[in-house]
Amino acid sequence: MKVTVVGAGAVGASCAEYIAIKDFADEVVLIDIKEGFAEGKAMDLMQTASLNGFDTKVTGTTNDYSKTAGSDVAVITSGIPRKPGMTREELIGINAGIVKTVSENLIKYSPNVILIVVSNPMDTMAYLAHKATGLPKNRIIGMGGALDSARFKYRIAEALDCPQSDVSAMVIGAHSDTGMVPLIEKAVRNSVPVSEFLSAEKMAEVVEATKVGGATLTKLLGTSAWYAPGAAVSELVRAIALDSQKMFPCSALLDGEYGQSDISLGVPCVLGKNGIEKIVEIELSDAEKAKFAESAEAVKKVNGLL
Ligand code: NAI
Repeated sequence: MKVTVVGAGAVGASCAEYIAIKDFADEVVLIDIKEGFAEGKAMDLMQTASLNGFDTKVTGTTNDYSKTAGSDVAVITSGIPRKPGMTREELIGINAGIVKTVSENLIKYSPNVILIVVSNPMDTMAYLAHKATGLPKNRIIGMGGALDSARFKYRIAEALDCPQSDVSAMVIGAHSDTGMVPLIEKAVRNSVPVSEFLSAEKMAEVVEATKVGGATLTKLLGTSAWYAPGAAVSELVRAIALDSQKMFPCSALLDGEYGQSDISLGVPCVLGKNGIEKIVEIELSDAEKAKFAESAEAVKKVNGLL
């Protein structure tokens, strides 16, 4: 398996590092527009191979797409991140141009690639990648829900004072502060609904903390986060590489599912060697349906700015 990661910045480098350490890919190519940057990150990472015990070969290139030829998966992290106080939607002006050019370049050299879009505003950037490349819908995956769900589990485990591995929970909808739909009614601790352990107020607090999870980190760090985003991407790539058929919430192009069409939005997806193998339609309560529809309307407004 050959993986290209476009953008060797905070998220791209973290994602390349996790992919290398998990040791399921033969090769990772980092590509960045900044002269020498991807080469430097790749060399630094390769010098951890004997320390961390992986065989994945990591190389870097300054914008030479011929080096990405034959990639099975390409992750797009190129673009600007938000600064404290900014919304993800405010990044559209610069990032749309970058994501369009990058996806066109990628498919020139890797016509069979599966794209994972990370750059923000992610749902709109995933939609744009569809429009720019015309790739089949199973081969463009937006990464947001996997990260938001990890943040949701972190908050639930914190509230319950239990290990995160005891918690099962999911966030669907848009990858935005207002558009996320954390499915708190369906969240469980060892199969028991979390509502058995937490008051309604506490559950509302957990949901709110999840929705502003990225903004909280941006305030603390001065820029957006990278460890959890990188780890989340690496898990999606691993599910494809191993054909694991595991379910992750991902931004997928919808064609009637959940009552939506012509939009990329976060829904539960089974991932395998073909990318999105299946969109799973889980039963939503009326309140969850209303929040999902609201989230879709907001993303459609942002898509209208393209
Ligand atoms: P960063 O600024 O650290 O890295 C971005 C890199 O992209 C830079 O090294 C830059 O030189 C490179 N770049 C810019 N234009 C390029 C082009 N045309 N071709 C190749 N490389 C190019 O930013 P960071 O923190 O890595 O964030 C990257 C993006 O990911 C941002 O848009 C951010 O908002 C988004 N993000 C999305 C998340 C998600 O869950 N979907 C989570 C975290 C960040």
